[in-house]
Amino acid sequence: MTDNEIFAGLKARGQEHVLRYFEELNDAEKREFLSRLSAIDWETVSLARGGEKKEPQAIRPIEGLTAMQIARSRDEFRRAGEKALREGKIGAVLLAGGQGTRFGSDSPKGAFDIGVTRPLYIFECLIRNLREVTDHVGKYVPFFIMTSEKNDAETRSFLRAHDYFGYPASHIRFFVQDMAPAVDFQGKLLLEDRGKLALSPNGNGGWFSSLERSGAAEDFPAVEWLNVFSVDNVLQRIADPYFIGATLLSGMKCGAKVVSKAEPHEKVGVLCLENGLPAVIEYYELSEEMANERNADGELLYRFGVILNYLFDLGKLRSVAKTRIPVHIVKKKIPYLDEKGELVRPEEVNGYKFETLILDMIKLMGSCLPYEVVREREFAPVKNRTGVDSVESARALLAENGVKL
Ligand code: UTP
Repeated sequence: MTDNEIFAGLKARGQEHVLRYFEELNDAEKREFLSRLSAIDWETVSLARGGEKKEPQAIRPIEGLTAMQIARSRDEFRRAGEKALREGKIGAVLLAGGQGTRFGSDSPKGAFDIGVTRPLYIFECLIRNLREVTDHVGKYVPFFIMTSEKNDAETRSFLRAHDYFGYPASHIRFFVQDMAPAVDFQGKLLLEDRGKLALSPNGNGGWFSSLERSGAAEDFPAVEWLNVFSVDNVLQRIADPYFIGATLLSGMKCGAKVVSKAEPHEKVGVLCLENGLPAVIEYYELSEEMANERNADGELLYRFGVILNYLFDLGKLRSVAKTRIPVHIVKKKIPYLDEKGELVRPEEVNGYKFETLILDMIKLMGSCLPYEVVREREFAPVKNRTGVDSVESARALLAENGVKL
């Protein structure tokens, strides 16, 4: 795209204001800014004007493997899972590109020290859990780490300085997720600096396209399945042979670890069937009646809460990679440069960010095995500093599971 085409495109879309300081930039800054502008996904930006609201349709409960059923088939699942691991068929993908706004720190969340009497970093908890499996099966799992432009350098140097907590660098690949521009409530692009758009990571649904673009998976051609998980669950079981075995033996294209919801209104996405296909719907999309509906055993019908630990068939992912998933428009406080060229840090939400979510990928897979895990053993998310899903609650759960803090 030529410079003139970029200028004309901005004008046609009523976005010329981003060039307000253009003539003050030096040549290198101009080039960088233009390259950013030429990469804008206008289809997404235009959503700020109308929104992409989709109502969930024809929701039904989904059948899954309960913790009790899993216990009965443990040996069979373990054998199948360990075999796949030994054959190098499994890769692990850590999603660590989030901004952790609720946590309130600009540093990578994984570099947070959750220890009390000794340092114990979140990355360390995760890698230690992964190593339990790889040490046992005698084979390292290719480990892909997604960062964002905001935290990539710090994440890499932190992990390097800690010698990757004992995981071999030969099996680690970093890749950087894409950024999306933020806009004000009128849909106008915001600037963060004179030659810089206000950008933020484009949500965890962008992980697969970013991984593919990086080419990192090609270094490990034996990999057929990817276990994708979040950075903030310090009890996360990664490359769990039981989960892998159960999903592979089920013949489904995807597995999702779930916990039984603690109460009808718990704020977790719920795995269910939508128009006959597995899908995750947000807790606020369940009607009051559905949230409270129970089966003959008194269990909630819609009880499978997802904990962001999925196993995806790589071949299937590749075959649906071009399908667009919904863009979620989120109101946020976005620092921006005002007309006087001064940076404003708003106290209230002032614009929209655009995010895609990994949970919307489940539907594309066509089939999905809900795999119930015991919450107290596998789910200790660190979202906030205190209170629910916090450093405090995660420390208590780590201690309960015998981790020295
Ligand atoms: P969350 O949805 O909790 O988002 O991420 P967040 O950005 O970490 O935290 P808040 O909502 O701003 O407080 C769930 C997982 O998805 C990753 C996070 O790093 C976390 O592992 N994630 C989220 C990304 O990798 N990229 C994103 O753009 C967003």
